[in-house]
Amino acid sequence: MPTLGFLKKKRTKDSSGSKDLDSPTSPIKETLSPITPTISKTSDPLSGTTKAGTSSSSTESTNTQDSSSTAKTSDPMTYQQSYPAQVQQRPAEPYQQSQQNVPSIRNLIHHSNTTNASSAHADSTQSSNGGAVTPGSGTAQPQLRVTKGKYSLGDFQVQRTLGTGSFGRVHLVQSKHNQRYYAVKVLKKAQVVKMKQVEHTNDERRMLQKVKHPFLITLWGTFQDSKNLYMVMDFVEGGELFSLLRKSQRFPNPVAKFYAAEVTLALDYLHSLNIIYRDLKPENLLLDRHGHLKITDFGFAKEVPDITWTLCGTPDYLAPEVVASKGYNKSVDWWSLGILIFEMLCGFTPFWDGGSPMKIYENILKGRVKYPPYIHPDAQDLLQKLITADMTKRLGNLHGGSKDVMTHPWFAEVTWDRLSKKDIDAPYVPPVRAGVGDASQFDKYPEETEAYGATGDDP
Ligand SMILES: Nc1ncnc2c1ncn2[C@@H]1O[C@H](COP(=O)(O)OP(=O)(O)O)[C@@H](O)[C@H]1O
Ligand SMILES: [Mg+2]
Repeated sequence: MPTLGFLKKKRTKDSSGSKDLDSPTSPIKETLSPITPTISKTSDPLSGTTKAGTSSSSTESTNTQDSSSTAKTSDPMTYQQSYPAQVQQRPAEPYQQSQQNVPSIRNLIHHSNTTNASSAHADSTQSSNGGAVTPGSGTAQPQLRVTKGKYSLGDFQVQRTLGTGSFGRVHLVQSKHNQRYYAVKVLKKAQVVKMKQVEHTNDERRMLQKVKHPFLITLWGTFQDSKNLYMVMDFVEGGELFSLLRKSQRFPNPVAKFYAAEVTLALDYLHSLNIIYRDLKPENLLLDRHGHLKITDFGFAKEVPDITWTLCGTPDYLAPEVVASKGYNKSVDWWSLGILIFEMLCGFTPFWDGGSPMKIYENILKGRVKYPPYIHPDAQDLLQKLITADMTKRLGNLHGGSKDVMTHPWFAEVTWDRLSKKDIDAPYVPPVRAGVGDASQFDKYPEETEAYGATGDDP
């Protein structure tokens, strides 16, 4: 058994959830869950009762000013004239006026033969956003996005911390040029070097410059001073899926399916560019203001045409071939998709052990998974095919690639091309005020005193 040493990424928050396998509901869910508890009954995608809200969906789509659709104009260096604050805030209004803090599952899954009215409203720029919707269609070569301006710390007003990680922290910042809000990931060079992550850090920037997809974070640019590296990204306002999951304890089947489907599209796209992500987990999945996912943290993403050996990831989510130091490939992302779906449905990961990461690795290598009785049979079937130790037999890693995952019965009612256009309403709309730097959905962290922007010797 290997020690992950420097490459180990600690799961900083309790990932245990409840291990009460038999309880179909939880008391917390009734009182605290931000997701209305009735959804699992009424929004079963198979029951055909999921179409309520279609009309509001078309209104919403019309108003949508998605970050990806404003991609050209929301460069932090561009003065903002064409987007009055009101336009930006409109998307959140239909929900917030009537039901702030009482988000509910909306028409989660549209059947393909239902009205297409709302798809007509879908922003045309989104469909050209590079989603490799047709599995296997992506043969495009990744090209580096050239970021427009040269940024420096002076262009931004640094505000509170949104998250902390192994190498630094992520701040909410406001551009002094266009007054928009962004998230800046600050990596301490000393820490990066100490943890021997220089290559990965370079990869993070390079990978993010190559990707453009509705469910992936947008990187606007990078800069550095003598102590730190800075990466300017869109600020994704709705917080981590991790927080929502812990508050909800676990997600109803259709809710987990919605998030899993968006992740699957993102993986399909990344893999079509030969990029493996390697750090799938709810902490790295952010919710945008409409409740759609954005995958952040490309710290371990890597371009790998065939096979790699690097040991990295988060203990709970590591595939057995990584734990056993075998060569691996895209297969690891499909394994961790399985772990993610399991965690969303159960509230805890299948190999979790409170004792130590070592115990978790032992469990992963043993490979025994206990499926709680409340897991839908289709979901369990998919999980068994994803959480398969033999990577040559793992779904997603077979001849059909991601298509095999997308055509699995659990995803039967997902209309993938509509999902890729965000034309399917998210099950939960975060209660945020859009466009005003509302970080209320993020945990609070003690702020650091050391000022950024140091000049002098570069360690
Ligand atoms: N673009 C973003 N918008 C809002 N919050 C973000 C963004 N990127 C990261 N965060 C927050 O910061 C946390 C740490 O960032 P991440 O890139 O995952 O760093 P690490 O590699 O240290 O895990 C995330 O879990 C998330 O809560
Ligand atoms: Mg992270």
